[in-house]
Amino acid sequence: MKILEPIQIKNMKLKNRIGLPSLLNMPGADDSSINDLTIRWFESRAKGGAGLIMTGSVASSAPGIPVQTRIVRGAGIALYDDRFIPGFARLAKVLHSYGAMLGVQMGIVGGVMGGRGPSPPPYPDEQNRTDDLFFVMSGVRIPWTEVTIEQIERSQNDIAAAAARAKAAGVDAVELHCAHGGATGGCSFISPYYNHRTDKYGGSWENRLRYAVETIQKIRQAVGDDFPVFVRLSTDQLLGNRGITIEDTCKIIVPTLEKAGVDCIDCSQGDMIRAGQGITIPLYYTRGCFIHFAAAVKKSTRLPVIGVGRIVDIEMAEKFLQEGKADIIFMGRQLVADPDTPKKYFEGRKDEIRTCIGCLGGCGRPCPVNYDIQDNPVPFTPAEKAKKVFIIGGGVGGMEAARIAAMRGHKVTLFEKDSQLGGMVAALALTKLTSEFGNLVDYLGTQMRKLKVDVRICREATPDDVNEIKPDVIIVATGSSMVIPEIARGKPSVMHHIEALKKKNAIGQRVVIWGLVAAELAISLAEEGKDVVIIGRGGEDTLARDYPQARRFYIFRKLTDINVPRETPEAKRVNNPRVLFYVDVEAITPEGITVVNKDGAKTILPYDTLIISREREANDSLFNTFQGKAPEVYKIGDCAQVGDIQTAVWSANEVARKI
Ligand SMILES: Cc1cc2nc3c(=O)[nH]c(=O)nc-3n(C[C@H](O)[C@H](O)[C@H](O)COP(=O)(O)O)c2cc1C
Repeated sequence: MKILEPIQIKNMKLKNRIGLPSLLNMPGADDSSINDLTIRWFESRAKGGAGLIMTGSVASSAPGIPVQTRIVRGAGIALYDDRFIPGFARLAKVLHSYGAMLGVQMGIVGGVMGGRGPSPPPYPDEQNRTDDLFFVMSGVRIPWTEVTIEQIERSQNDIAAAAARAKAAGVDAVELHCAHGGATGGCSFISPYYNHRTDKYGGSWENRLRYAVETIQKIRQAVGDDFPVFVRLSTDQLLGNRGITIEDTCKIIVPTLEKAGVDCIDCSQGDMIRAGQGITIPLYYTRGCFIHFAAAVKKSTRLPVIGVGRIVDIEMAEKFLQEGKADIIFMGRQLVADPDTPKKYFEGRKDEIRTCIGCLGGCGRPCPVNYDIQDNPVPFTPAEKAKKVFIIGGGVGGMEAARIAAMRGHKVTLFEKDSQLGGMVAALALTKLTSEFGNLVDYLGTQMRKLKVDVRICREATPDDVNEIKPDVIIVATGSSMVIPEIARGKPSVMHHIEALKKKNAIGQRVVIWGLVAAELAISLAEEGKDVVIIGRGGEDTLARDYPQARRFYIFRKLTDINVPRETPEAKRVNNPRVLFYVDVEAITPEGITVVNKDGAKTILPYDTLIISREREANDSLFNTFQGKAPEVYKIGDCAQVGDIQTAVWSANEVARKI
């Protein structure tokens, strides 16, 4: 396989073509030095088989100076002082023991941008938008300031000095971060969208590339000719002609940086502020959907090229390599969800790979599907005594508990009242937009078979079952139910969200969705040709509330940009799905749903189907029934506390690792 072929970049030889890209939320000590947690985090990925491990962007300038090269305390590791060298030396040594190489990314990240002016120029249709919707990092709002020439030079010198420290520590490569639009100084200097300077760092392409060129030259001076220097680019900012385009990248940026002395082009895309969906691509997009950018760059340079972006399976990576679209494939969130992905694949254990669901629920610390990613997980140990474990409920929480208990040596029986496993997550996977949730259901289902869990579907647990099985441990994982408001109870053509997902054929043409949380369902149904109105009591801030940033970004683009009236000629309006904020339901009759807004104005929405997606309540009655019926009785997931995939999977681990 091509993916297993080594590749030489200057004096670094990679054993294969799989790498971990920079992920900022790696662990580190409070003073930003590398600690045991950092080592463990990276080591598990090297152990899993990746040939190249990049650190997230490290702080190359000390905190408190005007040009920041770090985001916030606790969000990473630093290399702005010699005292950080031993930590990097230790990390490099550990990774080398697995045959993996270590690259360190650095650059101006957040806090200071390349352009002039207090804020980026908004699109005409973005006048009303609050930036913090898209650019709050680790809870900190990043301010925009103008960078002085002195600060520019300082940052370049700091970066070069940090690169020299990396080399001294035994690190194998460094990367200048010039990607992701307004999130980095490197990219915002290059970008015509952000850079409005009138000095030698703004204006022409030559001027806008000056920061990157000078920095690369300074790094080169610091590390010598044989040491690999990468650059990470947003090959296309995904802002049309207002930002960097792939044509600019191929014709101007790559040739210029190649001449400046870089050895490898790491191709990302998007803009943290304006096109975040391009960077941390949510589950809504096709896997590997941006590889054509790397492919285009590859045609414009002889340097090795890295491709990235929702590439979650080794076969797809291999295909892209075979097709000559890239020389190395980075897998970020996949190696977060399952660090052993390469190893399992090459050992013929493909069906054991836990594929990332693209949910963006942490991507490093935490990850909803990978309990072990956290700093202090309950350790996994073989059971001291094999017990009979009875799990009631085959959603992802129940299955995860069964997986862990069975792996520890317990004898597990699992009952599921439905005809299939996966519960609410499996139902959500039935919608095109969220079909990637099926990855988790498939993985856990396979584990049930492989671990010989005694799974019985269409079985509701009764006290007789408990008498027959005589379990030592009962784990109740019966999930939650949607609450149907009084006003809708017993009314015809009313379904709750999960019912609607399972009984698509029963949904009529005119759909009203009550609950702004169900934005994904609204978009999916509209895309399937239904006429959809989504309504709720709150405003924009409650639309898809609690969704991770890049998912919300997509949803807002789909819904509010086009549907919330904006007083500008550029605002496009597509009236499906329509969004009605600040309305309450007053009556439901065969003629329609009467909604009333804040001013008391009423509207009747004709409908064929009303879908309710509001509060959920725990189904904990079986827990109460079985209390005292076995030496140990637990409840996990929604049944213990209504939550999300993470609470289901993590609470399953908390219990199943201790029994
Ligand atoms: C939590 C998180 C932190 C990230 N931090 C960085 C970073 O520091 N520097 C960078 O260039 N990219 C960063 N990225 C982008 C990733 O390197 C990668 O390009 C992106 O996740 C797409 O790859 P994937 O779909 O394989 O995860 C980050 C992504 C995530 C999810």
